[in-house]
Amino acid sequence: MKIGIGNDHVALEMKKEIAEFLRGMGHEVIDYGADSSERCDYPVYGEKVANAVAGGDVDCGVLICGTGVGISLAANKVKGIRACVCSEPYTAKLSKCHNNTNIIAFGARVIGIETAKMIVDEWLRAEYEGGRHQKRLDMIADIEEKQR
Ligand code: RB5
Repeated sequence: MKIGIGNDHVALEMKKEIAEFLRGMGHEVIDYGADSSERCDYPVYGEKVANAVAGGDVDCGVLICGTGVGISLAANKVKGIRACVCSEPYTAKLSKCHNNTNIIAFGARVIGIETAKMIVDEWLRAEYEGGRHQKRLDMIADIEEKQR
C-alpha cells in the first residue's frame, strides 16, 4: 500500500519511527513533513496528506501531532476525507470497519510508540464492512455537499 504520513514539530520522532515501521511491513511511505523539530503549524501537514489521499496520490494517510486532534481536524476539512483520532487499537479498527476512515491520527504526547504501532497495524489490517454503514457515510458526504 502507498501511505502518506505527516506530522508537526511535536511528533517528528514518532513520525520517523512509524514511517520505518510501515516500511518494514512492506508499504511505500510518502513523507509530507514536517522534517524538523522547529515549531510549525499542524494544519499545513494535515492538509498536505489529506489532499494526497483525496487526490489518489496515496491510498491512505497517517497524521501525528501533539494530541492528534488539530491535525485530524485540518484533514477533515478536505472533501472526501474521513480522519479519526484515536489512542487505542479498537477504535482504529472499528473506524475502518464501520466508518471507512482513510486517515488515522494520534498524539505523540498522548500515546507511546508501541501503542502507535498497534493502532496503525490494526487499522491497516481492518476492512470496511459496507452494508448498513454505507448509508451513514453517504449521509456524511451529503453534509459536505451542503456546505458552500
Ligand atoms: C502543538 O503545540 C500542539 O498544539 C499540536 O501538536 C497539537 O496537539 C494540536 O492539536
